[in-house]
Amino acid sequence: MPTAIVMAAGLGTRMKSKLAKILHPICGRPMIDWTVEAIKKSGIKKVVVVVGHQKEMVEDELTKSFPKLKFEFVHQKEQLGTAHAVLVTEDALKGYDDDVLILCGDTPLVSPESIKAFIKFHKRKKPDLSIISGVFLNPTGYGRVLRKKPGHVQKIVEETEAKGEIKGITEVNLGAYLISAKLLFKYLKKIKPDNKKGEFFITDLVELLASDGKRVEAFVASEPVEFLGINGRWQLVYAQKLLQRQILEELAREGVTIVDPERIYIEPQVKIASDVVLWPDVIIRGKTQIGTGCEIGQGAIIIDSTLSENVKVHAYSIVEGCQINRGAQVGPFSRIRPKSLLKEDARIGNFVEVKNTIVGKCSKAKHLSYLGDSIIGDSVNIGAGTITCNYDGFNKYQTEIEDGAFIGSDAQFIAPVKVGKGAYIGSGSTITKDVPPDALAVTRAEQKIFEGWAEKRRKRAKKINTNNQG
Ligand code: UD1
Ligand code: CA
Repeated sequence: MPTAIVMAAGLGTRMKSKLAKILHPICGRPMIDWTVEAIKKSGIKKVVVVVGHQKEMVEDELTKSFPKLKFEFVHQKEQLGTAHAVLVTEDALKGYDDDVLILCGDTPLVSPESIKAFIKFHKRKKPDLSIISGVFLNPTGYGRVLRKKPGHVQKIVEETEAKGEIKGITEVNLGAYLISAKLLFKYLKKIKPDNKKGEFFITDLVELLASDGKRVEAFVASEPVEFLGINGRWQLVYAQKLLQRQILEELAREGVTIVDPERIYIEPQVKIASDVVLWPDVIIRGKTQIGTGCEIGQGAIIIDSTLSENVKVHAYSIVEGCQINRGAQVGPFSRIRPKSLLKEDARIGNFVEVKNTIVGKCSKAKHLSYLGDSIIGDSVNIGAGTITCNYDGFNKYQTEIEDGAFIGSDAQFIAPVKVGKGAYIGSGSTITKDVPPDALAVTRAEQKIFEGWAEKRRKRAKKINTNNQG
């Protein structure tokens, strides 16, 4: 397998962003990760990455995301063009005399199959240099491929240099090259920046080699869209759409029901089992796993969470960084925040916020509550409007409610506080002290009755009104 060189030093001025182009996310993953993923899957083990803009971020990202790949990062201090980008890797490849595969860091749609097919093509045809070309109805922005006779490539003319007839050529350079390291560095040194941009163009390799009697072949990509170069934000959106399609198609193949593929967003690391139904406007991100039989309602957002079997997340709920066990239900309009665990058949209803809380089996909090930093046992009933007062302005405290407790509506728990097994809390109580098992705790003021008070008040008000009008 050849060593890969990925050119990833440019800022990407056409993105109009402070963030380096190749760090822009596509379906939640930095653009560069997609290219490197394809390289890894093709079987290549060593990758030399040419870094420049935001190099530390690029290096951190890649070493973190691909612990098994062998990276060598080479710093291109000034971005003087693609030929210069590759030339700076010479020291890193000293002593290496096999083939190198050069790819652009801004082609995230490239597939491992195409990389493998390209390597095979190069091995079979044995040219001095292989490039990948594609036919685009609109070739604007790409280098045009000039051939003298079929098979042999003579020259690549960049968009900025192309005039007249050449501009009309639809076979374009897709930015991937295979060549022996020895030949590469020998010819890169001959490239001069004599073009309108004043840059060293790697594409000039073709003419230099061809005029020296060397053979350059173009591998015509069957799916040229894979080599779509992301130069601006619109191409980024387009690439994201295509990758999203691939993700959804794969899920559908695995037995997931997607009600409307145009209105859904699922990131690549998400794992979803068969017989899961996803309603429109669902967003599922990060390392989420969803077990069989789950249903995710319209507009729900699920991030970095694990849902076991038959969980229902009803419409417009947000679930992040938590675990929901078999048969539990959430929403509509619930918010389950990080470090929460909803055990089997628990039920969290509308306008309930749960944070860093364990909700036991079959326990319910169905309306308008805040449960933060709490441990709630099995079969607990949490009435509407219950609030755990977990924060005193400095620290967070825990509320513990044991199995079978019944919490009347509108109760507040001034944490730290504990409610024993099977205890009852009267509605509207503010609980400041621990409640023993099976006890009743009520903190309401006793109700008083003033007979006829309302009628008297109305009469008094009427009198004042008539006096005023008179
Ligand atoms: C390049 C090709 C063009 C081809 C197109 C395919 C050249 C001169 N032109 O054009 O023929 O059709 O790709 O997508 O190569 N980079 C560096 N250092 C530099 C310059 C660029 O690392 O000094 C990196 C960029 O970060 C980018 C990649 O090389 O990831 C390609 O550069 P870009 O400027 O996008 O080249 P194109 O104009 O698209
Ligand atoms: Ca490009």
